[in-house]
Amino acid sequence: MDTSRRQFIKHSAFLSAASMLPACTLIKKTDDKTSYVYDLTLEPAVAELVPGYQTSVLGFNGKIPAPTIYCRQGKKVTIRVTNKLDEPTTIHWHGLRIPVEMDGVPFLSQDPIMPGETFTYEFTPPDAGTFWYHPHMNSVKQLGMGLVGMFIIEEADPVTFDHDQALMLKHWHLDAQGHWKDLMIPRYSARMGTPGEWSTVNGVHEPTYYLLENGTVRLRLANVDNTLTYPITVENADVWVVAIDGNPIKTPYQLEQHKVSPGMRVDIAFIAPKAGTMVHVRQMKGRFAFPLCSFNVITSAIPDGKSLPALPLNPVPNLNLDNAEALNFVFEWAGAVSPADASGKNIPTFWLTNKRAWEGMSKDNIPAPLATLELGKTYIFYLRNLTQYHHPIHLHGHTFTVLEMNGEPLAEPFHTDTVLLGKNGYAKAAFVADNPGKWMYHCHVIEHMKTGLMGYIDVQ
Ligand code: C2O
Ligand code: CU
Ligand code: CU
Repeated sequence: MDTSRRQFIKHSAFLSAASMLPACTLIKKTDDKTSYVYDLTLEPAVAELVPGYQTSVLGFNGKIPAPTIYCRQGKKVTIRVTNKLDEPTTIHWHGLRIPVEMDGVPFLSQDPIMPGETFTYEFTPPDAGTFWYHPHMNSVKQLGMGLVGMFIIEEADPVTFDHDQALMLKHWHLDAQGHWKDLMIPRYSARMGTPGEWSTVNGVHEPTYYLLENGTVRLRLANVDNTLTYPITVENADVWVVAIDGNPIKTPYQLEQHKVSPGMRVDIAFIAPKAGTMVHVRQMKGRFAFPLCSFNVITSAIPDGKSLPALPLNPVPNLNLDNAEALNFVFEWAGAVSPADASGKNIPTFWLTNKRAWEGMSKDNIPAPLATLELGKTYIFYLRNLTQYHHPIHLHGHTFTVLEMNGEPLAEPFHTDTVLLGKNGYAKAAFVADNPGKWMYHCHVIEHMKTGLMGYIDVQ
């Protein structure tokens, strides 16, 4: 056992007497139902994102932030999705290892949900942790204008913190009066993507929450932004990284800075410090830290020496590396840049995977997969980014085990659905192709995916 693990357990050395205090309820916990049923309606709405100004947005159930779906690992969840937009949509449950029919990708897994229609998603999530949901059609607009929500799957064997708070990170493409600016500017799409300017956490600009002194805290950060990477730091608390992209890690380690790119999550845990302390969650930009949200610690009757509960690992299938097949994926620039036409329908191509840009897809025209995988077999993906921009590469329906980053074998491989490749970065990531179907495989910088960096693999 290494030092950080030992330290972590030392923090957990005293079993807490169950606190009599009502935990300042930051999220609603699920009860012991055997199934969970939700209704989600996608509809135009109005929100006050910039204080004092109303902005037309797209919302789930007309709300920003969207309702959080809470359910339990190994229990069925049913979500009836009604489309009240004036365009088709589908909903994708990001990071969930569920049957392809429920994956919410138009044509690959279902017909688009047309305006006025309802589609019922129903599945049993095998993993616990922090996930999210979003449409998988016209994503620059649908996600950019607000259709993003948290999907929290509680552990089969409940793990309880005094505070369990989701933090949904997003920048909006708004000016100081809450008016929309361009969601996608091609010269930015060809680079890091078009950044929004108005920072929110759970739809609020720099919110402040409360924490009880000595309480155990779990923060679930999710980057639901189309473009920006958030290098996260926390000030004034002794913070542990406990899960990456929905998957608990074996050996929690102290947070210094953790990069969360679009689509990615990180769960951090700590004991709330002394009353009067302000704990700040910040985003680094170069050497400077910018505020995201803060926690005001207030007095409580919770005794000190409380333990941080450990999170059980998810049942990610075991790799069979001895019989694995290796595949190379190279992400690079497109050689030719054809401009968008006046209709705005022809989107330029800036990015390639193995020399192919996404050709688009319709009911009768599904392009060839980037690879066809054999069901049950272990695959090693060598992911290479030959560009000057980072790309969070996301695979649907499976969980990668990252074995190496930039040529460095990892002492403790971690599990993720989204591998962040830095500038010219590369990764060695393996997984068992145990989920049959056609699975999207794309960069989660939405403009990159729109302008070519998208494809799918076929597991059969
Ligand atoms: Cu959250 Cu296809 O992605
Ligand atoms: Cu996904
Ligand atoms: Cu990208």
